[in-house]
Amino acid sequence: MQNAAQRKSNSDPSEAKDTCQLLPTPLNEEHGFKDIIGQSKKMREVFDLVEKVADCDSTILLNGETGTGKGLVAKAIHLKSKRKKKPYISINCGAIPENLLESELFGHVRGAFTGATSSKQGKFELADGGTILLDEIGDMSPDLQVKVLKVLEEGEFEQVGGAKTIKVDVRIIAATHRDLCEEVQKGNFREDLYYRLYVIPLMLPSLKERKSDIPYLVSYFIEQSNQKNDRQLDEVAEDAMAMMMSYAWPGNVRELKNMVERMVVLNGSAKITVADLPVELKKAHKHEPTSTIEISDEGICLNSAVTEFEKALILQSLEKTKWVKNKAAKLLQLNRTTLVEKIKRHQLQPCNI
Ligand SMILES: Nc1ncnc2c1ncn2[C@@H]1O[C@H](COP(=O)(O)OP(=O)(O)OP(=O)(O)O)[C@@H](O)[C@H]1O
Ligand SMILES: [Mg+2]
Repeated sequence: MQNAAQRKSNSDPSEAKDTCQLLPTPLNEEHGFKDIIGQSKKMREVFDLVEKVADCDSTILLNGETGTGKGLVAKAIHLKSKRKKKPYISINCGAIPENLLESELFGHVRGAFTGATSSKQGKFELADGGTILLDEIGDMSPDLQVKVLKVLEEGEFEQVGGAKTIKVDVRIIAATHRDLCEEVQKGNFREDLYYRLYVIPLMLPSLKERKSDIPYLVSYFIEQSNQKNDRQLDEVAEDAMAMMMSYAWPGNVRELKNMVERMVVLNGSAKITVADLPVELKKAHKHEPTSTIEISDEGICLNSAVTEFEKALILQSLEKTKWVKNKAAKLLQLNRTTLVEKIKRHQLQPCNI
């Protein structure tokens, strides 16, 4: 069965005017990261590092803003390691109340606390032989930090209320969106644990630092959502893609993924247009001053950036003058005919944004 990108490549290329066709999913074959999309230099550096460290047992500290793929990369490291047939267990240290977290991590013996009617194994024991992801480790209390340090240094611990020392062979990956070095300076995170975790730091870039990956991610998520929701969407209007490229994506890939799924589900046609984009993207685009356009390491296409900037200024002048073209032309020091031509070329309409 063909995917949308393949279907498009068989069709008449003239149909694709002003639209971006879906890109084939880059499989990152040399590394085999099938579900981690990224062609940018920064992501290739991540793949190279994962490749190098997957098979050793050193602790990895994953850092990056929310939604940058820390969970995804942690799982990929496990699957690439010699531990892949053993358990992979992830625990969100920020989402579990402190008194429960200790028992979740280390287990407890019967009668250790009110309600402990039977003994229970903790995640460290369950992950024996495999990998454990201590997610949001920056949110862990200082008391628990001491216990985790002991597991890291000696590979052993005691269950809550228990006297027996349990030995485990677990590879630890820690992840956080916080700046742990800063947390150490503020006194919120133990310095000894920080250095023990900071064996192999791996920083995941934010989406705005790797904008060249956006068209690939959009295509990949459209394909995924098409399959999941039985849709046939296979095009994105050029100006809609330009808007996605210029947005800052505070929620990173997660925000992009959820937005694409929403658009695929709600869209009635085969193409995503500016009208389908959520209001926060349009607002950000409308108010984006040129000084915030960043040239990432990947570079930007000057012609598209200049075109987008021209379009934004024309739109602003038209909105300011309630679409009275004479007045708008005057604001831009253009004659009316030139402005009308540009409005046509950019396909601007009063309801465009
Ligand atoms: N490079 C990528 N390719 C494909 N999907 C991705 C990529 N990065 C992230 N995702 C998807 O985005 C979502 C968020 O990723 P993930 O949960 O790994 O982020 P996170 O950094 O752990 O976020 P948080 O700090 O909020 O826990 C997931 O659905 C994941 O599958
Ligand atoms: Mg996560």
